[in-house]
Amino acid sequence: MLRRPRRNRQSAVIRDMVQETRLSVTDFILPLFIMEGKNVRSEVSSMPGIHRLSLDLMLEEIQECVDLGVQTFDLFPNLPESKKDKYATESYNPDGLYPQAIRAIKDRFPDVVVMTDVAMDPYSSDGHDGIVENGKILNDATLEVLGKMALTQAQAGANIIGPSDMMDGRVGYLRQVLDEGGFNEVAIMSYSAKYASAFYGPFRDALDSAPKFGDKKTYQMNPANSREAIIEAQLDFEEGADFLMVKPALAYLDIIKLLNDNFHLPIAAYNVSGEYAMIKAAAQRGWLDGERAMMEALMAIKRAGATVILTYFAKEAARLL
Ligand code: PBG
Repeated sequence: MLRRPRRNRQSAVIRDMVQETRLSVTDFILPLFIMEGKNVRSEVSSMPGIHRLSLDLMLEEIQECVDLGVQTFDLFPNLPESKKDKYATESYNPDGLYPQAIRAIKDRFPDVVVMTDVAMDPYSSDGHDGIVENGKILNDATLEVLGKMALTQAQAGANIIGPSDMMDGRVGYLRQVLDEGGFNEVAIMSYSAKYASAFYGPFRDALDSAPKFGDKKTYQMNPANSREAIIEAQLDFEEGADFLMVKPALAYLDIIKLLNDNFHLPIAAYNVSGEYAMIKAAAQRGWLDGERAMMEALMAIKRAGATVILTYFAKEAARLL
């Protein structure tokens, strides 16, 4: 036998030497859930270890993460029903919880990168990412809301805007609004290939943002499609996106590879709430080694071609790296 692949696996040192993919804390973005109040921490029941935090506690959490090397955070607001309406007007209130949080984070941690979420659902009484009229999502009218939201976030100090809404034309529209507002340095990480997935369930628990009727299939992509992901990515590229994201990550590793092979922008992958919940739930029951499963999943996402990984595991994984 001339070829014995096991020779390159025979010791830890050799295995390390020939390792093709390496995770680093600089790969990670940690999503954070902000809520109103002081000194409040409320665990998301379907996401063990992940909490909605009031601003004061969030600043402490960020300090701990920064000490571990995690330096980019993606913020999501949990708002009471009373702050939600049909047009998501709270999303562009400059004195709202969300812009306040961005300002406070950038004030205390000027070097930290703050990524924001641009979509109506956390602020919408309909629980949808766009304006709903007679049961239909109004694409172009929604863009105006998204523009105001993005501008408010940029004014508060956001570094990366993350449109997660899947409306057509939103990347180009937001790029124009940001540039006209004097924010040409604010980047756009587009949720390019965002699928209508069952794996978002725990996130919707975290924000109480589940759609009040219907589903998101007229704007999020059909999980059966991969060629369509190229169309979405191509448009986002042409419209000025700085990063292309695939979401979810683990059931869509082929899409991560597809975009990485076809586009020369950094590819991000969102290891979503349900993917986190599955590993945590199995680990709690002793059915899986949670730490090993976590590291293997993150490694696989990177191996598939993601340069950036949004993951609720960021802090825990950082401890092991
Ligand atoms: C909605 C949004 C969702 C997530 C991020 N932004 C869920 C949805 O489309 O309903 C999901 C994130 C996760 O599951 O971790 N704009």
